[in-house]
Amino acid sequence: MAERLDSTVALITGASSGIGLATARVLAEAGASVAIVARRVDRLEGLADELTSAGSKVLRIEADLTNRADAEAVVQRTIEQLGRLDTVINNAGVMLNGGSIESSIEEWERMVDLNVKGLMYVTKAALPHLLEAAQDSPRGVADVVNISSIAGRFARATAAIYNATKFGVVAATEAWRQEFTARNLRFSVVEPGLTDTELFSHQQQATQDMYDRQWGNVEKLHAEDIADAIAYIVRSPRRVAINEILIRPTDQV
Ligand SMILES: NC(=O)c1ccc[n+]([C@@H]2O[C@H](COP(=O)([O-])OP(=O)(O)OC[C@H]3O[C@@H](n4cnc5c(N)ncnc54)[C@H](OP(=O)(O)O)[C@@H]3O)[C@@H](O)[C@H]2O)c1
Repeated sequence: MAERLDSTVALITGASSGIGLATARVLAEAGASVAIVARRVDRLEGLADELTSAGSKVLRIEADLTNRADAEAVVQRTIEQLGRLDTVINNAGVMLNGGSIESSIEEWERMVDLNVKGLMYVTKAALPHLLEAAQDSPRGVADVVNISSIAGRFARATAAIYNATKFGVVAATEAWRQEFTARNLRFSVVEPGLTDTELFSHQQQATQDMYDRQWGNVEKLHAEDIADAIAYIVRSPRRVAINEILIRPTDQV
């Protein structure tokens, strides 16, 4: 049974577009106050206006999560202004795939800096607050949902460093799950397949063309499909830990 999230606070990274934006909507609709985080503050303002008009409490935070001080400040501001932290959705991510000769080391660093280090900074800063929430929440539980990828389960040529970051997220999530489950802090990982968002648009043109040739006929998932999976995890009662969800488009082999 899906529980309501009234009186809880959820922090969603990468909420200015795609999966993060859709997730902020579903968690706010379920009653959570939401801290929405990204660099494009104009996008966050639009979402904040929409959710506030629908009756939700919203804190928008401009942050570059590759910067450790920014990431720590995100958690601090959430606690100061929303009073607690029950749910973290580590969603912000970047995919810059391409041939390993053609790709730059800076592109590889950007993926490691956000997909692994950004997630690490937010999680580390959030842990004490999540453990506290798990103790005093009427629901008796707190959650971290990490967004990995099908690329965190299966490696492919031209995705080496993206694969490395997303395999890393799967591994870290399982290790944290074992460490914190006895304290009612659940760690879950979601591994989406092809989803129709802005993610692909940051890659080199040659990579985009290659993806179009390979996957052009696939009916992609919608960001809302992934948001629903995240809501299923977070809204499950304390006794139910959804450790991992791999979700592909029906057409994706
Ligand atoms: N779309 C897919 O097919 C797919 C499949 C598997 C996994 N995923 C994963 O799903 C997650 C969400 O991606 P998406 O598909 O929704 O793509 P998206 O629309 O491009 O969203 C990425 C989000 O990350 C934020 N972001 C990027 N760099 C950031 C930074 N330095 N600091 C803070 N925020 C930053 C972006 O906001 P700003 O630019 O405003 O900062 C944006 O809100 C990613 O982790 C991605 O790897 C996606």
